Amino acid sequence: MRLQKFLAMAEVASRRKSEELIFSGRVSVNGRVVTEAGTKVDSASDTVCVDGRKVDICDKKIYIMLHKPTGCITTANDQFGRRSVMDYIDIEERIYPVGRLDYDTSGLLLLTNDGELTYRLTHPKHNIDKTYIATVDREPAEADIKRFSEGIMLDGRRTAPARIDIADKNPVKLEITIHEGRNRQVRKMCEAIGCRVLRLERIAVGELTLGSLKKGKYRHLTEKEVAYLKEL
Ligand code: URA
Repeated sequence: MRLQKFLAMAEVASRRKSEELIFSGRVSVNGRVVTEAGTKVDSASDTVCVDGRKVDICDKKIYIMLHKPTGCITTANDQFGRRSVMDYIDIEERIYPVGRLDYDTSGLLLLTNDGELTYRLTHPKHNIDKTYIATVDREPAEADIKRFSEGIMLDGRRTAPARIDIADKNPVKLEITIHEGRNRQVRKMCEAIGCRVLRLERIAVGELTLGSLKKGKYRHLTEKEVAYLKEL
């Protein structure tokens, strides 16, 4: 982005005042004084100083909820050039997904530049509930439901107890709540009780739900929602 925009976003001064700062030789990029306002900077890798003091836009914490569609990956870069969740978000700041959803899973995905919160939300010991609707090819029997909810052996390790309810019968939809984040966990757990997942959507993280947010759209979390996540 342009240097004066960076300075404005770092709340150093308005864009016009930032230009004056640049013209007067008070701004440096990577140790070199810059006097051209149009100079491009990368907020992630360049060091910008005003009067020798480092300024940064990352101080501003951003918290976003995206309704992830299927057909996109959760990481920013993909060796196969597939669409990424970042393609749906139109902001300058660098933010990162909190955990991940599979390429073929849709639903609620949080993104932020708050590393501390990401760590807390994704660390297994914090046990944040994540709720999914899995559309499956058959109705599980009572015994399977019991097995599922008590924990299932996956890759040599038992899953923690999970909640499972039949939300709909035609097609069969299961509402499933887990608090771990193992690879393709919901799909594997369903397969273990003989149900093939046809569609998977995450509808809630803790008490945060998608509400009326449309697929492919995002919104900033409210202060109340951020406070809630920090308290979890
Ligand atoms: N479990 C899965 O199987 N896939 C996801 O994307 C999330 C949880």
